[in-house]
Amino acid sequence: MESTIVVGLERLEYRGYDSAGIALMDDENKIFTVRKVGRIADLKKTLEERQLPPARAGIGHTRWATHGKVTENNAHPQVDSSGKIAIVHNGIIENYLELRKELEEKGHRFDSETDTEVIAHLLEEYLKEEGDYLRAIVKTVNRLEGTFALAILNSDYPDMIVGVRKDSPLIVGVGEGEMLLASDIPAILTHTKRVVILDNEEIVFLTPDGFTVYDFQGNKKTKEIKEIEWDAQDADKGPYPHFMLKEIYEQPKVIEYNIQKYIRDGEPLLLKDLNLRKILLNKNRFIIQAAGTSLHAGLVGRYLIERFAKVPVEVVYSSEFHHRETIIDDRTLIISISQSGETMDTLEGLRLAKNKGLEVLSIVNVVDSSIARESDYVIYINAGPEIGVASTKAYTAQIFILLLLALELGHLKGFVDNDELKHYIEEIRQLPYKLNAILYRDAHIQHIAEKYHKSNHFMFLGRGINYPTALEGALKLKEISYIHATGYAAGEMKHGPLALIDSSWPVVIVNPKTSVYEKTFSNANEVYTRGGKLISVVTEGDEKMKDISESIIEIPQTDEYLTPILSIVPLQLLAYHIANMRGCDVDKPRNIAKVITVL
Ligand code: F6R
Repeated sequence: MESTIVVGLERLEYRGYDSAGIALMDDENKIFTVRKVGRIADLKKTLEERQLPPARAGIGHTRWATHGKVTENNAHPQVDSSGKIAIVHNGIIENYLELRKELEEKGHRFDSETDTEVIAHLLEEYLKEEGDYLRAIVKTVNRLEGTFALAILNSDYPDMIVGVRKDSPLIVGVGEGEMLLASDIPAILTHTKRVVILDNEEIVFLTPDGFTVYDFQGNKKTKEIKEIEWDAQDADKGPYPHFMLKEIYEQPKVIEYNIQKYIRDGEPLLLKDLNLRKILLNKNRFIIQAAGTSLHAGLVGRYLIERFAKVPVEVVYSSEFHHRETIIDDRTLIISISQSGETMDTLEGLRLAKNKGLEVLSIVNVVDSSIARESDYVIYINAGPEIGVASTKAYTAQIFILLLLALELGHLKGFVDNDELKHYIEEIRQLPYKLNAILYRDAHIQHIAEKYHKSNHFMFLGRGINYPTALEGALKLKEISYIHATGYAAGEMKHGPLALIDSSWPVVIVNPKTSVYEKTFSNANEVYTRGGKLISVVTEGDEKMKDISESIIEIPQTDEYLTPILSIVPLQLLAYHIANMRGCDVDKPRNIAKVITVL
C-alpha cells in the first residue's frame, strides 16, 4: 500500500514538490500520518526508517504551497480534531478563513495555516450532525468555495476512500480487487489502464472492489470506464537521466505520429468534422489564449494563421484575458492552447469566452482534461505524457497542429492552392528526419553549454516567425537554470536593450534562412560590434553568420514557416545542459509546478 502511494506520488511530483505526506489506515482502523518538508525522496527515506504497519487503505500528497508556508504542519494529509479523518487536497478554498472562524467558535483547534485543514474539521462537524457519511460529505462540499480535488480517509469507514472533484482534476483507476484515486493518469498506470474521469462536482466512494459516484446533491450517477492508450513506460524515464531530455528526444516520434494521424493522401484532416470546418470558415477573427510555453506556440500560430488562412489573430496571456474588455462578437473564435488542459488561467479564459456566448476550439495534450471537456471543439496534439516541468515536446506538437490548421483552413478558403499545399505537406513529412539530425548534434550543443554555463545573463533574439522561438528559448533557460534570460524581437534591440550588451553577454540569435534573414543578420552585427558573444542558430552551410558568431548551431534547411519546429530544439538542449552543469534539478525547478491550477 505504502509503496503504491509513494510510486504514485513520484509520478505526480512534477505537479508540486515542496513537501509531501501520506496517511495509512492500519488493521485496527487507526490512521498513521507521516509528513515531510522536501521531495518525495525525503518522505520515502522517513517511511523506510519508520517501518509503518501494513495498511488496508491510504492517501498521499505532494504539495505546491498556496496557503501557509512550507512546513511539516502545513503539509498534507491534514487531520480533524479526533484524528479520525485525514484529507489531501489540490486547489484553493477561498472561504477558508470564514469557515475556520465558524469552526473555532464551535471549539475546533487548528494545527496548520492551511485551507485544507478546515475541510477535515468541517467534515468532522457535519458527521456529528448527520450521522451519515454521504450526507456529511455532501454538506461539506457545498460549503466550500474555490477549487478542490480531495481524497479522504475516515477510520469509521476503514475500507473506503472518498474522492471529490471541483475544478481540479481527479480520476479513478479501476484495478483488480483494488481501486485507485489520483489527480493524473501517470500515477496509476503501473496498476491499471482502466479509468473513470470524474466530472466537476462529483463525489466518488471507493472500496477495494467497486466505486459509486454521486453529484453534489447526493444523487447517484453512472459513469463510463475508459481504456487509456498510454503505457506505464511512457511515464518512465527509460535510459534518460531526466524526463526533460527524454521528452526532447521524443519530438521526432511525436511529429511522425501526428503526420500519420492528421495527414492522409497528401491532405490535412484536422477539419474533417464538418461543424468545426463551418465554424472556422465563418469566423473573421481568432483570439488565442494560453500561458507560458503554450502562449509562445500561439505566437507562432499567429504568423501561420495570418499567412495561410488570412484571419486576423490576437494572442493574449490567459491571466490577462480576464482583465480586459476585449472587443468581441459572434464571429470571433477563441482558441485555447494547453498541454495539461488543466491550467486554471486558461480554463477560466475559456469559461469567460463561453459565458459571452463565444465558441472555443482547444488544442490540448491531455485527453479528457478539463479544458478539453469544456471546449466546443478539441484537437489533440498526441505528445504523450509530458512529465518534465519544462515543456518541450508539447511545444513543437502544438506548433505542428497550428501549422496544419492554418494550411488546411487556407486551402479551404482558396488562399493556399494545391501545389502550395503539396509543397508544405512534403516539407512537413521531412520534419521527423530533420529533428533527428538536430538531436545528432547534441554533443556539440553540450560543448557550447560547457563554454557558457557560468554566465549570469543571456539574451535571446529572433525575428519574424522565430521571434517566439527567442521568447521560448529564454523561458526554457531561466526556468530550469535560474539564469536571467530575456527574449527580444531582434529588431527591438536598437530601441533600448542594446545598451545592456558588452563582452559579458552571450546572445543567442535565431537566424535560419528565412525572408528576414538579412535584417536579422544586421541585428546580429549590432550585437557583434558591441562585443556581445553570439551563439547563432542558423541553416546548415551559413558562412556569413559564422563569421560574426562565437558559436554556431546548425539546423537543416526547411521552409520558413516550418523553422520554429526545428529552431527551438537546440535551445531546449542548450537550456537542459546548462541547467545540468549548474547542478539544478532539471525536471523539478524550484518555485514552479507542472500544472498550475491556481489563478
Ligand atoms: C514552461 C511551461 C509553462 C507552461 C504553462 C502552461 O516550460 O511548461 O510555462 O507552458 O504553465 O501550461 P499548459 O500548457 O499545461 O496550460
